[in-house]
Amino acid sequence: MKKLIPKPSSLKRKKINQRHKTIALFNHKGGVSKTTTTFNLGWMLAEKGHRVVMIDTDPQCNLTGLVLDYDPSKDFDEFYSQHPNANIKAALAPAFESQPKMVQAVECVEVAHRDGLFLVPGHVNLSEYEVTLGIAQELSGSIQALKNLPGAFPYFVEKIAEAKSADYVLIDMSPSLGALNQNFLITSDCFLIPTAPDYFNVMAINSLVTILQKWIEWGKKAAESEALKSASYPFPKPNLKFLGTVIQRYRPRNGNPTIGFQTWIDQINETVLNQLVPALTKHGMTFPPETYEQVDMGNDLGYCLSSIPDFNTMITASQTHKTPVFALTKEMLGHVGAVLEKDMEKQAEFRSTFENLADRVIALAKYA
Ligand SMILES: Nc1ncnc2c1ncn2[C@@H]1O[C@H](COP(=O)(O)OP(=O)(O)OP(=O)(O)O)[C@@H](O)[C@H]1O
Ligand SMILES: [Mg+2]
Repeated sequence: MKKLIPKPSSLKRKKINQRHKTIALFNHKGGVSKTTTTFNLGWMLAEKGHRVVMIDTDPQCNLTGLVLDYDPSKDFDEFYSQHPNANIKAALAPAFESQPKMVQAVECVEVAHRDGLFLVPGHVNLSEYEVTLGIAQELSGSIQALKNLPGAFPYFVEKIAEAKSADYVLIDMSPSLGALNQNFLITSDCFLIPTAPDYFNVMAINSLVTILQKWIEWGKKAAESEALKSASYPFPKPNLKFLGTVIQRYRPRNGNPTIGFQTWIDQINETVLNQLVPALTKHGMTFPPETYEQVDMGNDLGYCLSSIPDFNTMITASQTHKTPVFALTKEMLGHVGAVLEKDMEKQAEFRSTFENLADRVIALAKYA
């Protein structure tokens, strides 16, 4: 019988598909559920059997506070002194502080009660690296001493993904347009934009149209720079793809957003469709239309991966128990009788919303 030997091209494709995907959650507008979505999506992906590393790149360290049993305002010092290498700043220090060692994987936090979900904690002083990275990125390697900086983060992501056998690396980002975010975003495989339905979010997406084009142009040039190519951490060729938006925290009535919220949701969707997506497509940052259509998204259907209502009272239990709303147990919900029943009904809706979000992310990210 003839032996089936895979052709080299299919072998290559398999290898590419098996590599982890890095997904950035980015919006320079603050308080739009970037951190909450990182945690909830990460948990759901892990619940579905994937291995997920979340990286807290925001000096506010909210994701770290959400995961660790510490009060960020008081106790982070204790965590840092007990685990000096377990944070993003320590991970990048070999490059940024010219230490005589290579960037490597660091100790991760295993998220309690969720196998397969890990966190690289944030650091309140990560912003110390912002200025030097900014200069390094402006000069694209023309200063010898700075040429190792732009490729350090993506190199670390590869190492940590390898160490944890990760399928997904989720990057929770700060609400800023600084050099760190430019670097984290452009070196990711794909990104989603968490938004909230209001005027300021429409404005924020409008401004991203210009910013993202500038950033990707920079990324392409940086990847071609001989100095950055020959660095200890070569700057990778950008391959960034837009997954879609997540519109969060509207108040529903009878299951749908009220008219006030719906107006802003429509405006966000229109801005994404008419301004953002054409600009991203021009720069190769979108999938072909049929890829989005496979998951019922795209031009006629919108680029919204998920619209998520306000968690209302369940947010408190979620924060107290460091568990997403859809994974809270009856005991954690803390109610009985009719109130518990109502909670469980709502919870089932949130579960299905986050399952659908994770399924769409999985389906799209495999093409990135
Ligand atoms: N669906 C939701 N329902 C209720 N509260 C929510 C929801 N999503 C997020 N929140 C709350 O809104 C606040 C802001 O959310 P979050 O911290 O995730 O936003 P962010 O975009 O990460 O903010 P920042 O820009 O400061 O990093 C938090 O207190 C969070 O608990
Ligand atoms: Mg945040």
